Amino acid sequence: MTSWETDFDHTHPDYAENAPAIWDQLRESCPVARSERFGGVWLPVRHEDVDAIAHDTTNYSSQGVIVGEPPEVPAPMGPAPPITSDPPFHAIARRLLLPPFAPRPIAELGPSTRQFCHQLIDGLLEAGPEIDAATGYAQEIPVRIIADMLGLPEEDGDLYRFFIRNIVETAGVDIRTDDDISFDDYLDEKIAEHRANPRSNEDGDLIDYMINADIEGMPLEDAHIRGTVALLLIAGIDTTWSAIGSSLWHLAQHPGDRKRLIEDPELRPFAIEEFLRFYAPVTMARIAATDHELGGCPVNKGDWLLLPFPAANRDPEAFEDAGTVVLDRQRNRHGAFGLGIHRCLGSNLARLELSIAVECWLERIPDFELIDPETVRWSAGQIRGPRELPVRIL
Ligand code: HEM
Repeated sequence: MTSWETDFDHTHPDYAENAPAIWDQLRESCPVARSERFGGVWLPVRHEDVDAIAHDTTNYSSQGVIVGEPPEVPAPMGPAPPITSDPPFHAIARRLLLPPFAPRPIAELGPSTRQFCHQLIDGLLEAGPEIDAATGYAQEIPVRIIADMLGLPEEDGDLYRFFIRNIVETAGVDIRTDDDISFDDYLDEKIAEHRANPRSNEDGDLIDYMINADIEGMPLEDAHIRGTVALLLIAGIDTTWSAIGSSLWHLAQHPGDRKRLIEDPELRPFAIEEFLRFYAPVTMARIAATDHELGGCPVNKGDWLLLPFPAANRDPEAFEDAGTVVLDRQRNRHGAFGLGIHRCLGSNLARLELSIAVECWLERIPDFELIDPETVRWSAGQIRGPRELPVRIL
């Protein structure tokens, strides 16, 4: 890379490690950066621009949300509805998924999530005092929960992570395992198994729920069900894993914040929102649907744009003390879950998992530190979080 302003590569390890400093620099020097890589991509970093793009479904399409090869499935559905869908189909695909992600069904997952976190910590305490908080804890929690919800085997966790990491970290599309299985092959097989054993919504899981669903009396197309299952795995795993990992990375280095959170349970919901603001893991993408101008830059139809919600969350124009973690921040309208019509549908679940994961950890492991900051490895690409987080239990 020759310059962050004109030649950035968001999949490069240097970007992964230094992204917040790069956004701060770009906000001053070039608030809409450009790279000719990936067929041409723009990177706006101001809250104002990110917010405007996320709300503008006329000039920007969601058909592609991971920068790479243009997706083959056309708008308005796109390959992974509803995240890749444009209006008017988006509202239909989104509405279908609202009931299982509403606050009440998600709250019911609290006790089993807590139990699972404690089970993981039992193992870590036995293996300690030097453990990996990312691979041994953060990554395990969302996989278990979303696999349970979808009715997919928990023991295939490594397989989901293999596909997801290739899709979101390297923008790989046609990834196959050593046994020559693609993500689509895997999902088609699991959906076929569900179809062969039909269940009602009362007894079934999320795949059964989608098989039983209809749009104006017509069952969902196979491509719709497969795309949504893929989306829920991708959206549900890497994102939350990253948020849990970043929060623990912060707490490993701030004993005062650990103490405050342990002593003051009322502070915890504010702290979780602040971790989400400051360490927001998700940058999505859009494809320009028209020729137009953005911040004085000529955007052409078909250009990619990255939507770095994390950069927007650190814009001093939008947040007081934007560059500081303020655990008890009172006004915190962050965009970690997106802005506009695609706002995260799993935010109730994400908040539940993140809050319980941090709470259980601090209850059992109140004192811990990074073994060596140099050995922490951050993911590259559009989902940012620590993938290796070696810590020492004190
Ligand atoms: C901390 C964890 C999470 C973060 C930070 C996060 C972030 C986001 C963001 C930024 C978007 C907007 C995408 C856009 O504008 O293109 C989004 C959409 C979405 N998220 Fe999440 N997410 C998280 C966890 C989850 C979980 C656990 C699920 C469900 C299993 C989920 C399901 C979805 C879905 C289905 C959408 C698409 C909504 C739509 O297009 O209408 N997310 N998420």
